[in-house]
Amino acid sequence: MKLENQVAVVTGAGSGMGKAISLLFAQEGANIVAADIQPDGVQALIDEGKGAPGKIVFKETDVSDQQQVEDMIDFAVGQFGAMDILVNNAGIMDNMMPVAELDNALWERVLGVNLYSVMYGCRKAVQVMCQKGGRIINIASVGGLNGARAGAAYTASKYGVVGLTKNTGFMYANQGIRCNAIAPGGVETNIGLSMQNLSEFGLERTSVCTKAMPRQGHPEEIAHAALFLATDESSFVNGTVLTVDGGWTAF
Ligand SMILES: NC(=O)c1ccc[n+]([C@@H]2O[C@H](COP(=O)([O-])OP(=O)(O)OC[C@H]3O[C@@H](n4cnc5c(N)ncnc54)[C@H](O)[C@@H]3O)[C@@H](O)[C@H]2O)c1
Repeated sequence: MKLENQVAVVTGAGSGMGKAISLLFAQEGANIVAADIQPDGVQALIDEGKGAPGKIVFKETDVSDQQQVEDMIDFAVGQFGAMDILVNNAGIMDNMMPVAELDNALWERVLGVNLYSVMYGCRKAVQVMCQKGGRIINIASVGGLNGARAGAAYTASKYGVVGLTKNTGFMYANQGIRCNAIAPGGVETNIGLSMQNLSEFGLERTSVCTKAMPRQGHPEEIAHAALFLATDESSFVNGTVLTVDGGWTAF
């Protein structure tokens, strides 16, 4: 087992990539705090993970709330005595809104869930990990590497995640903390449910890129990349972004 005696906190664990990452990490022996705003998906994860060597426990958390993110990490340390791995995964889409159609409420919601959350998590994780090291894995997006994979708020939030990842990785490299991001391409998950009232203009503009996508990925393909970043197999990988997109951004 690759993660025996490790403790991982995974946000957005009730669906999609967070669920796949939690399940794979538990199968590799890690104890998991599965954080999400909604309990149903995590209950399904707990049921699926019953035979795994690692234990999965639910912690209800809205990642856009600083106090709840800090409580989530304190909960992991209280429950399992440590936190070795943090996966900042929870995220939402932005209805493909270009800037002229973007209202402040959507901007603030997307930045809160996708970016502020990652800062809250990284800050608290580094404080906990600075004694014995650890690994932080931020789920960014190809939308954090290219300008037209989503709307303005999502794109800005994921560029922010990439910057935060690089800064954190470098700053704490000598404390044994590695901080990396994954930039997935299109992956079959439930993230479409976070979209309503799509911008027709934004959709039409981004469709130029969507047409070049070789295929959609499966959440498990992202989970295997996360596992690589969570183990010593990636011991010299720090402060960088691993693109996992089937070749989409190679276009
Ligand atoms: N699916 C894709 O094509 C794709 C591509 C690139 C990047 N991503 C990123 O991957 C990550 C995971 O997305 P997914 O595709 O698995 O989506 P998903 O919708 O299947 O899962 C996201 C989970 O996050 C939870 N969540 C939403 N808001 C939350 C909040 N405020 N606090 C806590 N939990 C919250 C949801 O309840 C859900 O369980 C996101 O950061 C997303 O931006 C997705």
